[in-house]
Amino acid sequence: MVTILAIESSCDETSASVCRDGVIMSNLIATQEVHAAYGGVVPELASRAHMQNIVPVVDVALKKAGVSMIELDAVAFTQSPGLIGSLLVGGQYAKSLALSLDIPLIAIHHMQAHVLANLIDERRPSFPFLCLTVSGGHTQIVRCDSPNEMTVIGQTIDDAAGEAFDKTAKLLQLPYPGGPLIDKYAKEGDPNRFVFPEPQIPGLDFSFSGLKTSILYFLQNAGKSNKFKAELTATPEEQKRFREENMADICASVQKRIVGILMNKLIKASEQTGIKEICVAGGVSANSGLRNTIQLIGAESGWNTYVPAFQYCTDNAGMIAIAGYYKYLDADFSTLSASSAARSEW
Ligand code: KG4
Ligand code: ZN
Repeated sequence: MVTILAIESSCDETSASVCRDGVIMSNLIATQEVHAAYGGVVPELASRAHMQNIVPVVDVALKKAGVSMIELDAVAFTQSPGLIGSLLVGGQYAKSLALSLDIPLIAIHHMQAHVLANLIDERRPSFPFLCLTVSGGHTQIVRCDSPNEMTVIGQTIDDAAGEAFDKTAKLLQLPYPGGPLIDKYAKEGDPNRFVFPEPQIPGLDFSFSGLKTSILYFLQNAGKSNKFKAELTATPEEQKRFREENMADICASVQKRIVGILMNKLIKASEQTGIKEICVAGGVSANSGLRNTIQLIGAESGWNTYVPAFQYCTDNAGMIAIAGYYKYLDADFSTLSASSAARSEW
């Protein structure tokens, strides 16, 4: 029997999870409310909140799992990528625990863990599978040949898909994080009312910055054009009225374009690799437009599709625990000198 405690603290969620033999027994997530007032995550405030949250979150995760510290076989933690101050809090806690309990330490790459969240559910993909990982900081297509063998075959060259949602929401003057709100408005809107451009990027890479600029001009011109105009064609009052009266249709049209960009590359990746086991991961996989479209296209293309349960889509320690479990089986342990890193390739 292998029991692992996992810690995730890469951004603004303090999370702890206990997993036994690859089964998640608890997954506690403390969301930091402090950032909403600033329109985005404030790194220094995030590190401080992690310091306050980490001990109680771990305590509750252990209690919920009915596991005591002495039963732990290893501690896994998110090593990278993320906000460095936030990563350091989780990393330091995990190291101290591993040292005091004299058990192995397992360093996990946050993006690999997002992919492996697809192995939590009993219905899971067979290898090799493709995973579209879409979060606030990343957009990648990953080929996964085994739990510990993954290759990034496509990624964004600028903004991430979640950023495209959040920045659009900001332009629409919606509160942060705006992705879920765009999704909500989109449900009542007409996705074909406005047309935003699709970027022409070669291969399996993505780009979202052109879309963001086009939405900016579109709103500045109150829907009359999405090209730059030296002289604005709408007053600030007209812009506000246009935004408010057309919120649902704008959100639905933007969401349709973002989802379209993602799906076109995923279809291409499946055709190029011949792989039809298709997963989605990351916070944006909560998007209802993406979920519906992947089902539809999956049925047309003969794919088996997988999306983790919602609590394992956004940042969570359950995915760190499952990644830790597979590394444990390979005895892929880390030393206490493992350093956290804001960025890292794999
Ligand atoms: O994976 P995640 O929780 O954190 C990162 O590692 O970034 O992803 C957060 C991102 C945010 O950009 C948020 O707006 C987006 O996921 N998001 C959504 C939805 N729920 C979360 N975007 C669109 N529709 C949603 N329903
Ligand atoms: Zn994430």
